[in-house]
Amino acid sequence: MERKEITFTDNVDQTLKMMKDHGLLLTSVGADGRPNVMTIGWGNPGVIWSRPVFVVLVRPSRFTFQNIEATGEFVVSVPTDGMHDVCMYCGTESGRDTDKFAGGDLTVVEAETVRAPLIGQCVRHYECKVVHRNDVADAALSPEIRAEAYPQGDLHRIYYGQILRVTERA
Ligand SMILES: Cc1cc2nc3c(=O)[nH]c(=O)nc-3n(C[C@H](O)[C@H](O)[C@H](O)COP(=O)(O)O)c2cc1C
Repeated sequence: MERKEITFTDNVDQTLKMMKDHGLLLTSVGADGRPNVMTIGWGNPGVIWSRPVFVVLVRPSRFTFQNIEATGEFVVSVPTDGMHDVCMYCGTESGRDTDKFAGGDLTVVEAETVRAPLIGQCVRHYECKVVHRNDVADAALSPEIRAEAYPQGDLHRIYYGQILRVTERA
């Protein structure tokens, strides 16, 4: 599938809509180079430190967490409307015990700037390098969100990924 490079503001409204409707697919690799993919429903493409940055929230219990800690890289890929079931699959199975690329019939495509792969079936890809990380601060969180999002703890680590390259289906 042909792809073209775009700027990160191009079609960002469609990226946000897909995140809300289905989730986005976040890929990573471990130190051994094995790729993994998980669904994210929370995230934020924007501008920080005069740079394009994709902010994502990953709980420490995710296998993906270990991968990002190991490599400091990830890719956010935007699925099509037809990929809803795949998003649910990648958001319920763990790469700890499953190869989700095989299970979800997803094609691994090499990225240009990071080791985490693109997904051939997706329409848009944000290649990101972690430039900052911090944990959701329990004491600073609104009690309403604390009760809603963290009844079991497992507070997210927030990764700020500088967007190095964005590509889209031509
Ligand atoms: C629609 C949807 C959105 C999700 N959003 C997030 C998210 O933003 N952050 C997160 O840590 N987990 C999120 N999850 C849960 C993970 O995708 C899920 O735990 C996944 O199995 C983790 O995979 P891994 O262990 O291979 O990393 C979401 C799940 C779904 C279905």
